[in-house]
Formats: sequence, structure tokens, C-alpha cells
Amino acid sequence: MKILIVGASGATGKFLVDELLSANKEIKIIVRPTANIPDTWLYNEQLHIIRGNISEMKVDEMTEIISDCNAFASCLGHNLTLKGVFGKPQKLVTDAVQLICEAISRKNPEKAVKFVLMNTVGNQNRDIKEQVSIAHKIVIAMVRFFIPPQADNEKAADFLRLMVGQNHPKIEWVVIRPDSLINEYSVTDYRLHPSPISSAIFNPGETSRINVAHFMAQLIMDDDLWGKWKGQMPVIYNK
Ligand SMILES: NC(=O)c1ccc[n+]([C@@H]2O[C@H](COP(=O)([O-])OP(=O)(O)OC[C@H]3O[C@@H](n4cnc5c(N)ncnc54)[C@H](OP(=O)(O)O)[C@@H]3O)[C@@H](O)[C@H]2O)c1
Repeated sequence: MKILIVGASGATGKFLVDELLSANKEIKIIVRPTANIPDTWLYNEQLHIIRGNISEMKVDEMTEIISDCNAFASCLGHNLTLKGVFGKPQKLVTDAVQLICEAISRKNPEKAVKFVLMNTVGNQNRDIKEQVSIAHKIVIAMVRFFIPPQADNEKAADFLRLMVGQNHPKIEWVVIRPDSLINEYSVTDYRLHPSPISSAIFNPGETSRINVAHFMAQLIMDDDLWGKWKGQMPVIYNK
């Protein structure tokens, strides 16, 4: 199994790479030329580092990159700077998910591949009509309007939910929804739910980035766990 990870240089992505390296998996990452990555990665033969800007890549190039990959993970997200939040590319995550899925379809793998997308609990799973309060809906609508990364996260998940769907012969997916991200340096107990158990706006929970990475890695490596969550948008909270 070879796994392509995008957003690998981010706070969660780094944990995911380390988790999969310690399980002896072969990994490819696409990171920006300016990305800050650990020196140890440079000498790791299990890790193939591609320096480039995913938002400038075309489908031919991506098809070549993914030609030997059978699992995919995105921890991409907009940097929390004015340029990252309000500048281009505003559809960073959506376009990357779409590009990778188009490349997978072109490659037409023999068996369906896995795609794990890191998303947000601020996004609803409209496949299962999650109930939220009117006040929550109003706040999210304002966030969507004023903060472009919210719309990007929603569109990225919608691409998998609606365009790839539940019965794609070559792509299976899980969209992971953490609540407020915090940093911890070891994996702790965490809970998984098909939908949020409290309002992400009015009563937010906490999720460690390392726990998100752990769950993403387990989904990629454990087919039973994958079967349980395939085509869903599990919410992950620290216990
Ligand atoms: N903050 C929260 O509480 C929260 C809660 C739930 C979900 N989330 C979601 O989770 C995502 C990941 O969280 P995180 O803390 O791990 O994020 P992070 O540390 O900011 O990592 C973001 C990743 O995306 C890459 N990236 C950013 N802009 C890019 C661009 N224009 N082109 C290519 N790559 C780009 C970064 O690359 P560089 O290293 O090159 O910058 C980095 O690898 C968030 O962005 C958000 O959507 C956040």
C-alpha cells in the first residue's frame, strides 16, 4: 500500500505522516517548496517528497504522481493568516480533492481506493439531515459568507458526498470532522460519532490533532474500521 498525503506539512499532517511511517507504510507527500518539514523525513526511504504547489497542478501531473498510490489523505487547510484565509486559492481543499479524484478516475485502479478528508465539525452531513438550531444555522451562514475556508471545507466534503457518492466503483471516502483542534503530543482516548453531539458554535468540544491523525491512519490501515465509516462523516472528540 502506498499513501498520498496532501497537507502533510501542517500540524495534523505531520502527525499523520509520522503515524504511518512508524507503521512501516510507504508514503508520498506533496508539499509547497516553502513548507517546513522535519529533517528526519529527508532521509527516510519510506517517504517520497514531492515539492510543488498542488493548487497549480494539472490532472496529467497528478495522474502521474498517484499512479502507484492506493490510499489518499488530505489534511489541507487554509493558513490562519489574512492571506491564508482571504487570499487565493479560496477553493484550495475542494480543488485538491477534485483534482486527486479526477486523477484516480483517469488511472482507473483495479480495486477501489480509500480517500480520507480532514474537514470540520462546522460542516453538516446533509446525507443524514442533521438537526441544528436556527441560531447555529444563522452563525454558520455568516461564517460561510465572511470566512472563505468554511465554504471551501463544505464544498470539499460535498464533492465526495455528491459527485463521488456512495457507489463509486473506484473511490471510497470518509470525511473526518474534528471539533476545536488542540495540540497534544500523544494519542489519548477519543470518541467517534456519526454526527455532532453538541453545537460546534455554542458548546464546542475539543479534538487533539494527534488523535485526528491516529484515526485517519487507522482508517487507512484497518479495513474493518474503514467498512464501519465508509461514505460517512464521523465526528471525533477527545474523551
Ligand atoms: N482550527 C480548528 O479548530 C479546526 C477545527 C476543525 C477543523 N479544522 C480544519 O482542519 C484543517 C487542518 O488543521 P491544521 O491545524 O492541521 O492545519 P495547518 O497546520 O494550518 O496545515 C494546513 C496545511 O495546508 C497547507 N496549505 C495551506 N495553504 C496552502 C496553499 N495555498 N497551497 C498548498 N498547501 C497549503 C499547509 O502547507 P504549508 O505548510 O506550506 O503552509 C499545511 O500543510 C484546518 O485548516 C481546518 O480546515 C480546523
